[in-house]
Amino acid sequence: MQKARIGIINVSDRASQGIYEDTPGKAIVATLEEFVTSDWESEYIVLPDEQDQLEKAMIEMADKKSCCLIITCGGTGPAKRDVTPEATEAVCDKMMPGFGELMRQESLKYVPTAILSRQTAGIRNQTLIVNLPGKPKAIRECLDAVFPAIPYCIDLLE
Ligand code: MTE
Repeated sequence: MQKARIGIINVSDRASQGIYEDTPGKAIVATLEEFVTSDWESEYIVLPDEQDQLEKAMIEMADKKSCCLIITCGGTGPAKRDVTPEATEAVCDKMMPGFGELMRQESLKYVPTAILSRQTAGIRNQTLIVNLPGKPKAIRECLDAVFPAIPYCIDLLE
């Protein structure tokens, strides 16, 4: 059986310049290792908060690398350079707002600033794209909430 391929995009101006360590990206890999029960491999990239670069990477991972799932972290907030949700929406055929709603609802149990994340999810052909906030702690909190629905959603895309 073919290994499931999961794309991971850490969106951070500073991590992409090597100023910050790529802790969030590593936190996603560690969390997925716990959650994904089948054999999987990752496509991994760290990018600056540039919408065109994010769209290009998502399209490449979905269309050329056949990733069934793409997880982004970072760039979901209100700052001018936060454009991850815009890039996600631009490449998706269908948005899945329930993911963002549930992640914000769960995150509010931990931090009142959870409402500042515009994180969303959507589908491009057979690929589910899910945005997470950039803090490593937030990654765990959000994936815990939505991961149970992810394999079922991907199955429905086939
Ligand atoms: N969600 C969780 N679970 N935990 C957090 O610490 N931080 C919030 C919010 N969502 C946070 C969270 C904050 S402070 C911001 S600014 C937004 O996510 C956007 O973060 P991002 O720009 O790194 O994506």
